[in-house]
Amino acid sequence: MILIIYAHPYPRHSHANKRMLDQVKTLEGVEIRSLYERYPDFNIDIAAEQEALARADLIVWQHPMQWYSTPPLFKLWIDKVFSHGWAYGHNGKALQGKSVLWAVTTGGGESHFQIGSHPGFDVLSQPLQATALYCGLDWLPPFAMHCTFVCDDETLQAQARHFKQRLLDWQETHNG
Ligand SMILES: Cc1cc2nc3c(=O)[nH]c(=O)nc-3n(C[C@H](O)[C@H](O)[C@H](O)COP(=O)(O)O)c2cc1C
Repeated sequence: MILIIYAHPYPRHSHANKRMLDQVKTLEGVEIRSLYERYPDFNIDIAAEQEALARADLIVWQHPMQWYSTPPLFKLWIDKVFSHGWAYGHNGKALQGKSVLWAVTTGGGESHFQIGSHPGFDVLSQPLQATALYCGLDWLPPFAMHCTFVCDDETLQAQARHFKQRLLDWQETHNG
């Protein structure tokens, strides 16, 4: 099962992420959990989130980049859900052997994130990657959709189809 943890603070105003979700929402074996719609008061149901994660083989962390990081509810989700004794520490093995795909959209173009200009994706992804590895998750090469402010609809749709293909490729490899 592919579980998409979707953290968009204003899902109804989304252009890029909405198109990505539109591409994959009808795929078999894909479940989407929209954190801001589930938890508008930031009161996360930890047990429900852990139960969903336990069912997943591939976890997708999907969100718009905000100040070179994640939206705040996503950070809170990790803080609350990846608890000691469950995700890490003594007997904390719930996530071991699963994979994680960081799927992020950005306003900046690809060149904006090249080393020498601003920190590159390999730098920006480090807190998430380190979190994943610490909990025994297999970190896959991230999926990034850049230039979302200036892209026309056709370009956004094409990139959203690439996202769908990433999930289909994973399913094919995983299911043999
Ligand atoms: C508060 C805030 C902070 C943002 N910070 C960044 C940033 O650091 N780098 C970047 O490239 N884009 C940044 N953006 C732009 C968003 O990443 C962009 O609007 C989003 O990825 C577009 O996806 P959507 O159409 O699904 O909303 C920011 C947007 C907001 C609202």
